[in-house]
Amino acid sequence: MATRDNPAPTEPESTSATIDAVLDVVARSAPDVRSGLPGRRVAIEGENPSGESQKAADVYADELFLDRIGSISNVGVYASEERAEGIDVGSGLSVCVDPLDGSSNLEPNAAMGTIVAIYDGPLPASGDDIVAAAYVLYGATTTMIVAREDSVTEYVIHQDGEYEVAREDVTLPEDPTVYGFGGRVPHWVEAFQSFVDDIESDPSMKLRYGGAMIGDVNQVLTYGGIFGYPTLTNAPEGKLRVQFEGYPVGYIVETAGGATSDGHQSLLDVEKDDLHARTPVYVGNEELIDDLESAFSDHE
Ligand code: F6P
Repeated sequence: MATRDNPAPTEPESTSATIDAVLDVVARSAPDVRSGLPGRRVAIEGENPSGESQKAADVYADELFLDRIGSISNVGVYASEERAEGIDVGSGLSVCVDPLDGSSNLEPNAAMGTIVAIYDGPLPASGDDIVAAAYVLYGATTTMIVAREDSVTEYVIHQDGEYEVAREDVTLPEDPTVYGFGGRVPHWVEAFQSFVDDIESDPSMKLRYGGAMIGDVNQVLTYGGIFGYPTLTNAPEGKLRVQFEGYPVGYIVETAGGATSDGHQSLLDVEKDDLHARTPVYVGNEELIDDLESAFSDHE
């Protein structure tokens, strides 16, 4: 079964205050990230720990979040997709950040995001350690989705960093309409291809893939459907990272009433002992995730 039936425990006061502070810093930093993008669209020489080329904007956003999240009391570790190791910044919660998700969309000027996972435990954390997750979507407007204590809220962030609730209790619409999958189609495995064939033969489903996970996941939260970056014949663990992408997006989608999977189990049950480990990621409406898992088990 791809969803988990574990209501979020109530946060102790200090945990709750730290989560408030992290989310506030992320929201108020979003306009600074956004305004720092022009002029930083170019690739620089370095690679991130996953071997992907970095843009100047990736490094800029990472330094900005390290500086601001690292200064919050009761944050113990700041880790990011752009750094090999977590940085010890005090004692308390561990915060994992993908500073600029989908930064290959910088050049074509398409949507990107920032993803934040807050764990009450050392890194690499387990799915049970996550106490809140959020993402900022730098789209036509800047919005932030926050999952925390069993509910998901969408905020609109203004240019001055002030933000306000746009939607409370965000849940996936019951009738799914959109799908988007990453990776080269010739590298999809047979089980996944057969699942996609079924999706494509459903007249209510429409392909919408933007190339940045956060943009694609936000469509699923808005319209209902499924997003996946699948297992590939040349990359069985896919592309997305457990601590920085799989757990936080899994937590958000499951809190919003959807389901998630790595092909066999909820993303929150994936266990990997490397900070930068990858996992196939599938998130969406529960019946679609059930069908996906059936396709994988039928092909075993
Ligand atoms: O690094 C993550 C990411 O940029 C995701 O945001 C996105 O879903 C994926 O990579 C896109 O990868 P590709 O360029 O292979 O479609």
